Amino acid sequence: MKPSNPFIISAYYSPKYFCDREDETESLLEACKSKRNVTLTSLRRMGKTGLIHHVFYKVRSEKSVSAHYLDIMPTVDLNGFVQALGSILTKELSAGKGSFIKKVGGIFKSVRPVIKYDGLTGQPLLSFDFRSEEEMNHTLDEIFNVLGNQKMNLLIALDEFQQIVNYPEKNVEALLRSKIQSLNNATWIFSGSHKHLLSSIFGQHNRPFYQSTDMLHLAPISPDKYKRFIYRHFQMAGKILEDNLLDKILSLSRNHTFYVQYLCNRLFSFSSGRITIKTIDSLWLEILREREFVFYNYRNLLTRNQYSLLVAIALEENLTQPLAGNFIAKHGLKSPSSVKSALDVLMIKELVVRETDSYIIQDVFLNAWLRQLP
Ligand SMILES: Nc1ncnc2c1ncn2[C@@H]1O[C@H](COP(=O)(O)OP(=O)(O)OP(=O)(O)O)[C@@H](O)[C@H]1O
Ligand SMILES: [Mg+2]
Repeated sequence: MKPSNPFIISAYYSPKYFCDREDETESLLEACKSKRNVTLTSLRRMGKTGLIHHVFYKVRSEKSVSAHYLDIMPTVDLNGFVQALGSILTKELSAGKGSFIKKVGGIFKSVRPVIKYDGLTGQPLLSFDFRSEEEMNHTLDEIFNVLGNQKMNLLIALDEFQQIVNYPEKNVEALLRSKIQSLNNATWIFSGSHKHLLSSIFGQHNRPFYQSTDMLHLAPISPDKYKRFIYRHFQMAGKILEDNLLDKILSLSRNHTFYVQYLCNRLFSFSSGRITIKTIDSLWLEILREREFVFYNYRNLLTRNQYSLLVAIALEENLTQPLAGNFIAKHGLKSPSSVKSALDVLMIKELVVRETDSYIIQDVFLNAWLRQLP
């Protein structure tokens, strides 16, 4: 079924509604073929999950690989990870001939699989029952054994992979690294937006995953390709964009995928016929106004120093030296040391991130709202 709005703002639909990422898709497909694991990073909402689903779409149409996507953000410990990984087997064991229950019973002799049925679809759902750490480790071994015995090659994406550093158990990285390494029929994509956490997992020489993957960082989509994509979808629906509007869309949304998609989605449903700069200006203000109650709340959640620095960062176009005297003086901030401690907090909260040497506010709407404050 065709979506009613071609600018998708959640999940993935199909290649027709997915812009570019040709090189990145090619890199991931090639890595998959050559069984090289990949770490995929980007700013939040730049398009990692979308890209993974796009690659899965391609892989599935080739029917040579069985692709699995797991978002491990909701898991809080190794137990949760084991259950999540085990859920992959629901699909693997449902495929092909024979009853699911018999296959599960035949494979798992020494761990306790639990089969429930989805209330809506009636599909079986596999989980595992274990009562001690030893049983959990044993279950993990079994899951990896079964994965290793699958005839098809596997492509497994673990989204928000940095979550494993929050697990309370010791040696999680060493355990997962050795298990993952032992599977020779699987390629893994580890993705997430916490660049510093992921680069320490994969880039610190004393950590188990050190240099075990290719690194792929998603930059914004090429502006020319994005403009052509946007123009085409508006044109196909008989909506005409006034000159310079494409540039305006990309500059308001800082060419950041989710914000481009969101703005175009709203513009598409809001307008029929000819779309003018005036239309987009008023729509943009409306979008900011809708979020105002959340943004005002930042004043209460942050100290005065942190909030002043946030506003100062929004007002700067390209801030590379936040501790420099001229930046501090220009915005009436206190001292390099107080800016440093406020910046640390804003970065831990991920309100501010460092991308290609510049400090920016990650949320494009918040950035725009702060800029227009009196
Ligand atoms: N190449 C693309 N073309 C069109 N839309 C895209 C593209 N990539 C992503 N999107 C859309 O942009 C939005 C953000 O993408 P996505 O959720 O993949 O980002 P993310 O990097 O995984 O974000 P997060 O860090 O929050 O998990 C989604 O609505 C998605 O549908
Ligand atoms: Mg994502």
